[in-house]
Amino acid sequence: MERTCYNTELSLKDEGREVTLVGWVSKKRNLGALQFIDLRDRSGIIQVTVQEGVEVPDLRSEYVISVKGTVHKKDIPNKNLKTGEIEVLAKSIEVFSKAKTTPLIIADKTDALEDVRLKYRYLDLRRPCLQENLRKRAKIVRCAHDYFDENGFVEVETPCLILSTPEGARDYIVPSRIYHGNFYALPQSPQLFKQLLMIGGMERYYQIARCFRDEDLRQDRQPEFTQIDLEMSFLDQDQILTIMEGFLKKTFKETIGVDIKTPLRRLDWQIAMDKYGSDKPDTRFDLFLYDVKDILSKSEFGAFKSAPHIRAITIPGVASETSRKVIDSLTSEAKKFGLGGLGVFKLENGVLEGSLVKFLNEDLQKELIKAGNAKDGDIILVASGNHDNVCFGLGALRNQYARKLGLVKPNTYDLLWVVNFPLFEKKDDGSYAALHHPFTRPTPETAHYLDSDPSKCLSAAYDIVINGYEAGGGSLRIYDEDMQKKVFNILGFSDEDIERKFGYFVKAFDYGTPPHGGIAFGLERLSMIICGTDNIRDVIAFPKNLKAACPMSQAPQPVDPDQLNDLGIQIKE
Ligand code: AMO
Repeated sequence: MERTCYNTELSLKDEGREVTLVGWVSKKRNLGALQFIDLRDRSGIIQVTVQEGVEVPDLRSEYVISVKGTVHKKDIPNKNLKTGEIEVLAKSIEVFSKAKTTPLIIADKTDALEDVRLKYRYLDLRRPCLQENLRKRAKIVRCAHDYFDENGFVEVETPCLILSTPEGARDYIVPSRIYHGNFYALPQSPQLFKQLLMIGGMERYYQIARCFRDEDLRQDRQPEFTQIDLEMSFLDQDQILTIMEGFLKKTFKETIGVDIKTPLRRLDWQIAMDKYGSDKPDTRFDLFLYDVKDILSKSEFGAFKSAPHIRAITIPGVASETSRKVIDSLTSEAKKFGLGGLGVFKLENGVLEGSLVKFLNEDLQKELIKAGNAKDGDIILVASGNHDNVCFGLGALRNQYARKLGLVKPNTYDLLWVVNFPLFEKKDDGSYAALHHPFTRPTPETAHYLDSDPSKCLSAAYDIVINGYEAGGGSLRIYDEDMQKKVFNILGFSDEDIERKFGYFVKAFDYGTPPHGGIAFGLERLSMIICGTDNIRDVIAFPKNLKAACPMSQAPQPVDPDQLNDLGIQIKE
């Protein structure tokens, strides 16, 4: 097909040039003698002007056309367009295909509901902002290929039909036609395969890997997503993090021109939780949690007297707007994090107010104000209960207030590593779950607790946290068969479970396993941060909605009875 160039490649330098352009009719105005067409292609819009006497077909928005004409200087430039200094005077126009009236406006600003946008995603994708996001995402992938290739990593694909591996979320499973009653799982990540590649001697592996997790969806979670997945042998944690920082530095520079200063700082998980109330703290603003157990356990309030942890956060300047209604909504927010309630104290005219003030004598009130460095007009939010609930609850309120008070400067990026996570999480029934995954090595200093008190083990794991998002996570792995079995046992896997679920994996450890470790970056999370959106669906061409469905194709759907029959499956009513 004849096409001179993309629309926005033309400029005043091309004045007088004969061109053929293609694209969609973005807008058409008919001013009697003159017709103006905004022609849109992947690069942007250029104005096509049709003068009296030139025969043109009937055109409507979103018709796909080709325009032959001459580049002209515009008398009055249009400052809103990159090509605003020029126009193309049409000589002829050909229509490739017509279009019905679209169910959504094809422009960055749209008021269409998200489900409508997803139903007509191919139209939504014509919006310049989405095109820009997909281009940035592609650039991140390009940076990954270039950087990891330059650093001696080999791209290896791992299978998608695998044996179910417990990794934290629920698996998507695929029935086998050949072995009725047997199922493959789709990988939650290539974790075991990449470790087997290390045992297989690859030394440095990477993959842009598709992962599948059947879990509750959120603004930053999709059931299928992509990891930039890596594994390395014979490197220690510092060496691994240095290589990864190089990738992040290159990516931020080449996608949005942002200089990231390395080495990145490292924050202990415990400090992240205690100070920011999050294992993925947004460190771009200074609102901190603080401990008030010593003060409030001396109060007369029953819940405070017996609570194992009491922490607080001071929110500046919001006392006058903290009505009963606001307090109720803060309390219900806190309850989502397993907290019984929330203490709300207001400081006005030097006096502490709130329903719990009566339980604090004057000295305790003064101590609380001092601990929170509170000023007139501030409020102090207090949570009590178990450590993680208290921290996560206050941390969520911290983020909400930061947004509300505009404490986060736009276009700022704060990258850090969160390290020294607990290896295990103790569940309410006393059993242990892996905080990262069961293949993570404990730190050398705490490994001995595997035998005495696993809750004291810290892990050699690291998460890359950017602007309050967990953009990636990884760890050094266990490479010793006995330690791996010990960890499986602590997690409650019987020898039989181990054999059935990981037998092939554990067996590989018998034949010489290099010390190894790795990481996976969430490609969508990185793309969200780099594109400046808080909606993961903005960086995926064809995402699922929050109910894990595709409004465009209507997946999932029942399948033909024949298909079920082949698989030996009967659906329970
Ligand atoms: P993890 O489970 O932490 O580690 O995942 C790594 C990164 O993947 C991204 N991510 C997601 N992105 C979108 N939707 C989801 N549902 C989703 N789940 C995870 C996050 C996360 O940090 N195998 C290990 C990595 C390793 O140890 O090397 C793993 O998968 O950005």
